[in-house]
Amino acid sequence: MGTLLFTLLLTALVSESSCVQWSSSALKEDAAVYTCDNSDLTLSWEVSKTTGETIVDVQWYYEGRSQELIAMLAHGHLNVMPSFSGRVELTANAGIVIHHVTTGEKGNYSVEVNAQDKNGGFVTLRRKASVLVGAEGLMTRDGQLHASQMAVAVFSNSTQQWHVVLACGTFIYHDTPPFTVEWTTPSGQSVSSSQYKEGQFLLLLDNPVSGGSYTCRVPDSSASVACLHGNSTDVSSTVVVDDVKSRLTLLEAENQQLKGSVMELKAENGQLKEFVKQGNQTIDSVSTRLRQHLHDERTKRVSFLATNLKDTTPSVGDVLIPTTVLNNQGNGYNPATGKFTAPYNGTYCFLSSLFGSGSGHHIFVSLVVDNKRELWVYTTYHGSSGDYDAASLQAVVSVRAGQSVWLQAYGDSNQFASGLHSNSFSGFLVSYDL
Ligand SMILES: *[C@@H]1O[C@H](CO)[C@@H](O)[C@H](O)[C@H]1NC(C)=O
Ligand SMILES: *[C@@H]1O[C@H](CO)[C@@H](O)[C@H](O)[C@H]1NC(C)=O
Ligand SMILES: *[C@@H]1O[C@H](CO)[C@@H](O)[C@H](O)[C@H]1NC(C)=O
Ligand SMILES: *[C@@H]1O[C@H](CO)[C@@H](O)[C@H](O)[C@H]1NC(C)=O
Ligand SMILES: *[C@@H]1O[C@H](CO)[C@@H](O)[C@H](O)[C@H]1NC(C)=O
Repeated sequence: MGTLLFTLLLTALVSESSCVQWSSSALKEDAAVYTCDNSDLTLSWEVSKTTGETIVDVQWYYEGRSQELIAMLAHGHLNVMPSFSGRVELTANAGIVIHHVTTGEKGNYSVEVNAQDKNGGFVTLRRKASVLVGAEGLMTRDGQLHASQMAVAVFSNSTQQWHVVLACGTFIYHDTPPFTVEWTTPSGQSVSSSQYKEGQFLLLLDNPVSGGSYTCRVPDSSASVACLHGNSTDVSSTVVVDDVKSRLTLLEAENQQLKGSVMELKAENGQLKEFVKQGNQTIDSVSTRLRQHLHDERTKRVSFLATNLKDTTPSVGDVLIPTTVLNNQGNGYNPATGKFTAPYNGTYCFLSSLFGSGSGHHIFVSLVVDNKRELWVYTTYHGSSGDYDAASLQAVVSVRAGQSVWLQAYGDSNQFASGLHSNSFSGFLVSYDL
C-alpha cells in the first residue's frame, strides 16, 4: 500500500518536472515590450514540450479597459476576435505578432496555455507582458530630448576617478530603451552613452574635461525603434559645458569625499580612544591588584618565638605561658596569656619543643587551635630526679583572623626545665588567604 502510494507520488513528481513549460527564450513574466504607433507588436511567448505532450488550446488577452480576448488557438485553428481581425499572426506555439498597434492599445497583454501531459493531466501556464506603444516622435516626457550637465560628479569604479556627467532624456520607458543615444563632443568625436539610469542616458566625461558643446541624438540606425519613423535628424539636444565650472564640480565632489574620509577617521579615532581607555582601565585594575599584593607581601609578615615558661609545673588544663619573647613579628603572640592570635586568615605553621625534667614527671601537652585540641604529645613517667625527656609538636593549620592557638597541659604531673632556650612555642604565617 505504502509502496504504491510512493510510486504514484514519484510518477506525479517526475511528470511535473518534465511537463509543458516556458522556453528559456520566452518573454519573462511582466516583461516590458516596446513598439511604435502603427507598427508590429511581437509577443514572443513560447512553450517547450516533449513527445506525448499536447497543447490543447491557447488564449491571448488584452487587459486594457477590461479583459478582452484577442484570439484563441484550438485544434490547430486560430480564431481572431473582430476588434483584432486580420492583424494577428501566430509565431511560436504561444507567441503572436499583432500588426498595426496604436498608442491606445498600450497596457498589459497576457497569454494562457492549456496543455495535457503524458499521463493525461492538465497543465495551465500564464504570462503577462507590459506593452508601451510610442506615438510618432520620441518616447520622452514632452517628445523632446533634453541634454543637461548634472550638478554633482560621479565616481567611476573603472577609472577610480570623479567624472562630470551629462544626461540626455527624459524617456518614459519602463526600463532600458531598445536603443541608445550618441553624443558628439566639442572636437566632433562621436561617443556612446556610458549608461542609462532613471529615464536618462548618461555620459561620463573624460578628465580633464574639455569645455564646449555636447550634443546628444538618437542615431539614424535606431530611429525606427525610437518611433522616429526613419527621420531623426531634428531630434537632438545640446548642452554647453564650461570647463572651469566642471573643474569646480569635480573639486566639490573630491572635497565631499575627503570630508567623508575625515568623518570616518574621526569615528575610527573615537573608537581607538575608547579601546585605549578600556585598555587603560584593565591595566589600572591589574596594577591596583598587583600593588595591593606587593603591599600585602611586604606588610603581612607574621612569626614568633617565645621561651621560658612562667609555670614549669602546670596543672591539668593550664595554658603553658612562655614569657620571654625572642621574636614577635606582627605582634600575634601575647606573653601575658601564652596565646597567639592570628591577624590574618591563612595557613600557619606552629612548633613547640618541650624539655621535661625532675622525678615523677612526664610530658602530656596538647596544641589547641581555636579551642580545639589539634595535636598532643605524651611521654612516660620518669622515676628519678636525673631523668630528662623531650617532646615536640608541629602543625600546619588553617587559622582565621581572630582565632587563637596555644599550648595546654593535657594531663597532670607535667614538669619542665626552667629558664631560657629550653621550652619553646613558635609559629609563622605560611601564606595568607587572598
Ligand atoms: C499591468 O500589470 C501590473 C501588474 O503585473 C499592474 O501593476 C499594472 O497596473 C497593469 N497595467 C495596466 C495598464 O493595467
Ligand atoms: C563600485 O564599487 C563599490 C565597492 O566595491 C560597489 O559597492 C559599487 O556597487 C560599485 N559601483 C558600480 C556602479 O559598479
Ligand atoms: C526629416 O526631417 C527633416 C527636418 O524636419 C526634413 O527636412 C526631412 O525632409 C525629413 N526626412 C524624411 C525622410 O522624412
Ligand atoms: C591611557 O593611559 C595613558 C598612560 O597613562 C595616558 O597617556 C592616556 O591619556 C590614557 N588614555 C585614555 C583614553 O584614558
Ligand atoms: C576570613 O575567613 C572568613 C571565613 O572564611 C571570612 O568570612 C572572612 O571574611 C575572612 N576575612 C578576611 C579578612 O578575608
